[in-house]
Order: sequence, then structure tokens, then C-alpha cells
Amino acid sequence: MIKDLQGILSRSAKSAKKSVIRELLKLTQRPEIISFAGGLPAPESFPLDILSDLSTEVLKKDGVAACQYSTTEGDNGLRKALIEKYRRDEGLELAMENIIITTSSQQALDFLGRVFIDPGDAVICGLPTYLGGLQAFNAYGAQMHGVKLDEQGMRPDHLKAKLEELKKAGRKPKFIYTIPDFQNPAGITMPESRRKEILAVAHEYDVLVVEDSPYRELRFEGKNPKMIYQLDGTEQVLVLGTFSKIFVPGFRIGWIVGNKDILDKFVTVKQSADLCTSSFVQKIAALYLSQGHFEKNLQRVIAMYREKRDAMLEALEKYMPKGVSWTHPEGGLFLFVSLPEGMDAEKLFPKAIEKNVAYVLGSVFHCDGSGRNTMRLNFSFASKEKNAEGIRRLAEVIKEEMGTK
Ligand SMILES: Cc1ncc(COP(=O)(O)O)c(C=O)c1O
Repeated sequence: MIKDLQGILSRSAKSAKKSVIRELLKLTQRPEIISFAGGLPAPESFPLDILSDLSTEVLKKDGVAACQYSTTEGDNGLRKALIEKYRRDEGLELAMENIIITTSSQQALDFLGRVFIDPGDAVICGLPTYLGGLQAFNAYGAQMHGVKLDEQGMRPDHLKAKLEELKKAGRKPKFIYTIPDFQNPAGITMPESRRKEILAVAHEYDVLVVEDSPYRELRFEGKNPKMIYQLDGTEQVLVLGTFSKIFVPGFRIGWIVGNKDILDKFVTVKQSADLCTSSFVQKIAALYLSQGHFEKNLQRVIAMYREKRDAMLEALEKYMPKGVSWTHPEGGLFLFVSLPEGMDAEKLFPKAIEKNVAYVLGSVFHCDGSGRNTMRLNFSFASKEKNAEGIRRLAEVIKEEMGTK
């Protein structure tokens, strides 16, 4: 082994921290622990039998192409199937040049860094926001500027104040990173009016908007507001999509929708990153969409997650002491709990593990280190019964800490 590993590391590798979530997940893999910490889809949501049939069908009918490299932009059959899905679900008319396939959304987040961020560049994100986004942008030396959320998502007045402050300092952020549908970690959805307000500010300051939306299809009730991309209509928005939460994360298939000239830049960086996303899984996914399996399985998954969310919400209502509040997501995988001001979710964590329940510290989703009294709970992975029992245990820990037990 080389003696001076530190000496040859890049600045980015030296400063990169291991994902707190991954490290916590290791701790929570003991079978007796009910873990609300991950962001995993339910194992029973995976359509294994269908995938087995489709794999055989792809190999029999299109085997050579499935085993060959595909184009960097992605398999045409899959891009067409996704365009059809956007037409059907969103009334959105996309051309082939407006969509490329990525090796899941995390790759798209990394590419945002490669395409737009030089060290020290400003990027706007929510307070809180997805940790994997923060990590991807930080790896390129981004200076993250957080904008608080309220119950409707990112606050436009705070966004405007932040952009004005940056402008006065002679700076312009590279993009605004938003997760408008069932936000990770807060579970909040931006109504259409809020989306329009955010867009108006973005237009005023000429800043690109990134609409990262892995959870949009997982709506348990009500109707989706229009996508920010659609409300914009000027291609100042990039949409990140992924099959990870609505189909299978193991396929590692995502996509970017946006302006052709911007997507061309992404294709160039993808060439040097991985040449192409797996042809085989793209072809299976294309059949999964075009043969109607996607919609059928999605309805099954939505029904399953709705019950799991309800079980968690009911238990929160039943067991949590006064002073603890939580969000009421209409879909997605997560809800966000706020403990009384001054209480520290990190200090509580070992006590929760002792009681065999785990969560993610809310502070890791805050680029400014705030949110110490918050935690993210995932309701999709554990069973309904475990969701209820886990919340009962968590409430005990919190009550003990508050001295109300
Ligand atoms: C908001 C958000 N973006 C992107 C991702 C990455 O998803 P994947 O790389 O599996 O597509 C996640 C995963 O949890 C997420 O919550």
C-alpha cells in the first residue's frame, strides 16, 4: 500500500465526508431495530415475476442490443416510453432532444456539479434538502445557500432576499435546487401558486431551476400540481426523474428533461463518466412502461404506502407528547418531525438505538447545520405494524428526554 495516500488525494476527496445516512444505516441493520432511517422502497413493492418475464423477453427478442453499449443519450425505446408517460400523465409534449437517460438521479446530481459548478460557486437549496444533492454539489466545491421552507415548500420571499444579497455581492447562483413533490426530507409539496412564485423570482434573477422529483407519482390523495417545468414553458427548468422509488432502485435508471443545449453538455460529461447506462435494464424498463405494467404496479404500491403512512401518522397522534410536531405528507416516503426547540436529535439517537428504533438526524439535511431538533422518518420500508411500534418506542425516548414520563 502506498505510504502517502493523503498526499495523492484530490482536494475534493480529502474534504469529502462519508454519508451520515450510509453510516447510520449500517448501525440500524440489526434485525431487532425498527429503522425509519433509510429511504428504501418496500421490498414487497418490487414486481419480481414481471421482471423475470420481461428479462427473458428482452434477451429473446433484442438480446444482442441488450448486451451491447447503448447511445449516451439513452435507449430510444425507453426515451419514447418516457415521453409517452409525460404526455399521458402531465399533458406535456416533449421531443426526443428534450430527454436523456442517466444512471439514476444521483448521477444527474453529480453531472449538475460537473456541468455548472466551479469551486466557490453559489447554489441555492432548501433548508432542509436532500443530503445526496448537498454531497454531490459540495464535491465540486459549491457554496450552498439554504432557503427556509414553510408548509408550502421553499419560501419565495427568502429566495428573493438571498438572490438580492448575492447580487449585491456581485454573484449569481448557478441554479436553484428544489424538490417540489413530497420533498425529501420534509414530505412537503409545493402548491401551484408557490411554484409560480419561485419561478417568477428565478426569471427575475435569470437563475436556472432544478426540479428533482423522484416521488411525484407516489401521491396517496388529491391531485398533483403542475410540474414547475410545465408552468415555466421557457426551458429555464431541468427536471430530474428516476425509477428508484416508483419501480426499482436496483436498475439505476433516471432521466433529465430540459433544454437541448443544456442536455448536450450533460451528454458530453456522461461520455466520460460511464459512456452509457446499462442497455439491458433500459430495455426491460421500456417494456415495463409500454406494456402497462408500470401503472398497474404503481397503483398497488400507492395503496401499500398510503396504509403505511396512515399507520405512522396514527401512531404519532397517539403516542407523541405535546410539543412534538410533524408534517402530513400526501405522498412520497418521508415525514419530518420537529422536537421542542433546544432538544437535540443527535443526542437522542443512541437512546433510540437502545430502544431499537432508528431515524435520520434532520440536521444532515440542513446545509447551514441548523435543524438540530428535527428528524426524518421513512414510512415505506417497515410494515404497518412496525411503523406503529417504532413510533411508540420513539415517543418513549422523547418523553424520557423531556422528563414527561
Ligand atoms: C430528492 C432525491 N433526489 C435524488 C435521489 C437519488 O435517487 P436515485 O439515484 O436512486 O435515482 C433521491 C434518493 O433518495 C432523492 O430523494
